[in-house]
Amino acid sequence: MSQTVFEPVEIVEATLAHGAVLAALHAHSFSAEDVWDEEALKQLLPMPGVVTALALRDDQPAGFLMIRCVADEAEILTLCVATAYRQQGIARQLLTWGVMEAQDRGADHMFLEVSVKNTAAQALYAGTGFVQAGKRRAYYPDGSDALVLMHSWGG
Ligand SMILES: CC(C)(COP(=O)(O)OP(=O)(O)OC[C@H]1O[C@@H](n2cnc3c(N)ncnc32)[C@H](O)[C@@H]1OP(=O)(O)O)[C@@H](O)C(=O)NCCC(=O)NCCS
Repeated sequence: MSQTVFEPVEIVEATLAHGAVLAALHAHSFSAEDVWDEEALKQLLPMPGVVTALALRDDQPAGFLMIRCVADEAEILTLCVATAYRQQGIARQLLTWGVMEAQDRGADHMFLEVSVKNTAAQALYAGTGFVQAGKRRAYYPDGSDALVLMHSWGG
């Protein structure tokens, strides 16, 4: 399957100083019941194994990916791109960055949960090597199920 090639974004590793920027991106991208506020994000940022990639386009924050790596396993904690920057390949570039970072840290697979209702994210993950590994019933506050997706690169 062919993929459109977009201009690369600048990706920087986020620190505590980016807490407010990340919170604004998250609030913009998720419904109120799923939003993580600045305090929650600042608690996660320095946790062991947590790495956060902030995408910048023309120096403006466009989206971010937060992963956690523990031993051979990596997990996507959250991913979002602001509406003005969507469908320009930014989430795909963040995922590529995250997989490389997880590989560097010794992970051989990555997993995540995504709502059965979130068809855009499902298409993104299907196109970046993720396959369904399970389902969690009534996982989200609105009662919807989550698909558990996994991407393995280990032998
Ligand atoms: C899901 C999300 C991160 C995608 O970000 P994005 O930067 O627009 O995605 P990309 O431009 O990198 O798209 C990569 C692929 O994702 C899929 N995709 C992205 N947006 C899509 C849409 N609106 N409808 C269908 N497929 C879509 C496509 O397969 C696309 O590949 P293509 O360009 O070859 O068609 C973004 O829509 C978002 O932040 N949504 C709200 C938060 C969210 O749902 N996060 C994920 C939680 S698991």
